[in-house]
Amino acid sequence: MINDMREILLSEEELKEIVNRVAKQISRDYKDKKLYMIGILKGSVVFLTDLMRALDIPCEIDFMVVSSYGSGVTSSGNVKIIKDVDVPLEGKDILIVEDILDTGNTLKFVSELLLKRNPNSLQIATLLDKPSRRVADVTAKYIGAEIEDKFVVGYGLDYDEKYRNVPCIGVLKPEIYMK
Ligand code: IMP
Ligand code: MG
Repeated sequence: MINDMREILLSEEELKEIVNRVAKQISRDYKDKKLYMIGILKGSVVFLTDLMRALDIPCEIDFMVVSSYGSGVTSSGNVKIIKDVDVPLEGKDILIVEDILDTGNTLKFVSELLLKRNPNSLQIATLLDKPSRRVADVTAKYIGAEIEDKFVVGYGLDYDEKYRNVPCIGVLKPEIYMK
């Protein structure tokens, strides 16, 4: 699997440092709050499970599944909720956890939906941010790393449902897309 990579962008060690840094910020900011992390499946699963174990405050976790129909590797504003959270969010301090903030269409839709449920607060933590691709007006309070406009896989992120279990993040060789 790692042989399919053209370039490694973030090694396992670098990812560990990122997770620890973000966990420290979150632990400090949510010390006196009721942290309720909502992971957007499936991409956020590796980041979320590492992040929660690096926190030194209590937290609850939940998941949502959303799909956005666009062409190929780009999402659209047409987001559909496949699995919602099944508890009331009123009064909770919601932290949406995402693998990558790209156009922002997905997270704009999800945050607007969740804000209607009167949480005490709502913020976003994303492992990766591709700011040059942004279309929708969304910003994440916690960002693991900013990256260029390259399609990346590993550490939860997939290409055609594969490579999620690669422990680092990298760019695939072009011939993989042409198979
Ligand atoms: P957005 O709505 O365009 O921000 O789309 C974000 C979603 O697109 C992410 O949650 C990923 O599932 C997917 N995505 C965007 N860029 C990449 C990438 O480089 N690799 C893998 N998935 C990506
Ligand atoms: Mg995703």
